[in-house]
Amino acid sequence: MGEQAARRVAFVTGAGSGIGRATAHAFIKAGYAVAFVDRDGAAAAREAAAAGDGAIAVTCDVTDDGAVRAAVDATVAAFGRLDAAFNAAGIDGAAAPLADATMENWNRVLAIDLTGMFSCMRYQIPAMLASGGGAIVNCASTAGITGAPHLTAYCAAKHGVVGLTRGAALDYARQNVRVNAVCPGMIDTPMAASIPPEFLKALLAESPMGRQGKPEEIAAAVLWLCDPSSSFVTGQAIPVDGAWTTR
Ligand SMILES: NC(=O)c1ccc[n+]([C@@H]2O[C@H](COP(=O)([O-])OP(=O)(O)OC[C@H]3O[C@@H](n4cnc5c(N)ncnc54)[C@H](O)[C@@H]3O)[C@@H](O)[C@H]2O)c1
Repeated sequence: MGEQAARRVAFVTGAGSGIGRATAHAFIKAGYAVAFVDRDGAAAAREAAAAGDGAIAVTCDVTDDGAVRAAVDATVAAFGRLDAAFNAAGIDGAAAPLADATMENWNRVLAIDLTGMFSCMRYQIPAMLASGGGAIVNCASTAGITGAPHLTAYCAAKHGVVGLTRGAALDYARQNVRVNAVCPGMIDTPMAASIPPEFLKALLAESPMGRQGKPEEIAAAVLWLCDPSSSFVTGQAIPVDGAWTTR
């Protein structure tokens, strides 16, 4: 137990797939104990089992505030503390120009991508304060800092994530809790697999590096933002996008 209490602990939402999955495994590789959190309980259990020692699976829909609280509580109960959190659970929603988009899509995307992240931070921050400090990374998107055609709900939610990140960073800057966002460009994950191939080809032709990023390339940035070596970095929304937003 003494050894377990000293191990740094990370909480990762969306850990059943894509960017969250890669990051949760990167935390394990870096020596953290990790809560693999996902609404897809089978995926969370599969990934936690693959990670082995120091991993737990927690089934949690981030739109359920009580379930989020229970997930953070379960993590602290299992590992004794919370040092790092990566909030990656998200959806892109249905693609349509704004006037053709539905209220249902708007409400669903905002509930998961923005309110869900607020809910996670509400419980992660007290757990980190009780642990002497910590670092949170929220998964925004290039759509959090530029426009994204046909994805206005997603774009609004991700801009909201950047605002949430900046505000929370200021609230806790003197209490040793840092809060940053990563803004991935096009990353090769199951979410991106829904992009029609012709559209993806056109996007890649426009992209400075001419390729999608890998989930591991986002994970590396998240690991750094949670590491004490980034101790003076907070309140930032950092593009990891192969210069997509630099064009
Ligand atoms: N793939 C990209 O190109 C890209 C680009 C920019 C930002 N992002 C962001 O990265 C994050 C991860 O995306 P991804 O590409 O890995 O997608 P993904 O679909 O591969 O994984 C998303 C995971 O989140 C989980 N999830 C979805 N809704 C949830 C909820 N309500 N509660 C708990 N878990 C939930 C899913 O079950 C899934 O395991 C998202 O926030 C996404 O917006 C992705």
